[in-house]
Amino acid sequence: MRVGVLTGGGDCPGLNAVIRAIVRKAERHYQDSIIGFKDGWSGVLEGDFIPLDVNFMRGSLPRGGTVLGTSRVSPRMYSDGFDKVRSTMESTGIDALIVIGGEGTLSAAASVQEAGAAQVVGVPKTIDNDIALTEQTFGFDTAVSIATSAIDRLHTTAESHDRVMVVEVMGRHVGHIATWAGIAGGATLTLIPEHPFDIQAVAETIMRRHRRGRWASIVVVAEGALPAEGTLEIAEPEVDEFGHKKLGGIGHVVASEIGARTGFDTRVTVLGHIQRGGTPTAFDRVLCSRYGIAAIDAVHAHKWGSMVAYQAGGMVTVRLVDAIAEAKPVSSELYEVARAFFA
Ligand code: F6P
Repeated sequence: MRVGVLTGGGDCPGLNAVIRAIVRKAERHYQDSIIGFKDGWSGVLEGDFIPLDVNFMRGSLPRGGTVLGTSRVSPRMYSDGFDKVRSTMESTGIDALIVIGGEGTLSAAASVQEAGAAQVVGVPKTIDNDIALTEQTFGFDTAVSIATSAIDRLHTTAESHDRVMVVEVMGRHVGHIATWAGIAGGATLTLIPEHPFDIQAVAETIMRRHRRGRWASIVVVAEGALPAEGTLEIAEPEVDEFGHKKLGGIGHVVASEIGARTGFDTRVTVLGHIQRGGTPTAFDRVLCSRYGIAAIDAVHAHKWGSMVAYQAGGMVTVRLVDAIAEAKPVSSELYEVARAFFA
């Protein structure tokens, strides 16, 4: 077969490891030829691609980023988008397209499949871990480990100065990174989008802690966390050219409110894209290798419109449309574990 691969949306540690696994099994086991589209859907729309083989991918397993480049361009943005996808599939002789991306990129893949423009298989990528029907997206473990080591470092400086440290981590719709890093890093409080917060209750929790003689606190905030209605006014975030809200800022709001309401010395650290760059953890490298192998196997099983998923320790396929229907929230059981250590 002739198979195309693209990486779309925000980059994520492990993208190259997935591509490498696809290429390895495709070339050595199935005798396929693989091409990689440049910059996500943009490469498909413009017919911009490069051949991929085992030799090209050599050394890419531990490398962050994506050898293919990425973008938030989608065929759904253009009236002739699906026609262009169809015509690239025909002109390149591609039988199937493996789409590696998060919610936006995979939604586009589901539409492309539905329009009959290409036969697609999806792979769930995002440090946010918000794709449903898979227990873990790749990149998440790496992001959690980066956030946890940042929290570990903030503990010692917070204790030296008797400070409140607010740490903002990624997580636009849901708070998986915040919850995991908050538990792993021993946070005083963790604020996530699933549970709107009351800033006065946050301040009082920290004051109670001070009365018990604990003068250093770590508050982890997911970038998408929001105050409970009527408790605090915050500015609407800007939106980029793709309609994507530019988050990052709630940490500063939380820190300045804590400082004002408690009088305690408070600082903020926004981890931002540091969570997305660099080398994937060993766990992510293994998960990516499994995702890549499962994706090329799904292509050969003609599982069009499916997404490979990690469930109960194994790889399965689910329907793309089901996986993108709703963001996967942090389970209440896990958030209760975090909450048991609050204050
Ligand atoms: O969706 C993954 C993600 O890393 C989010 O956590 C974050 O809000 C967003 O991407 C940032 O996007 P950009 O790279 O466009 O700033």
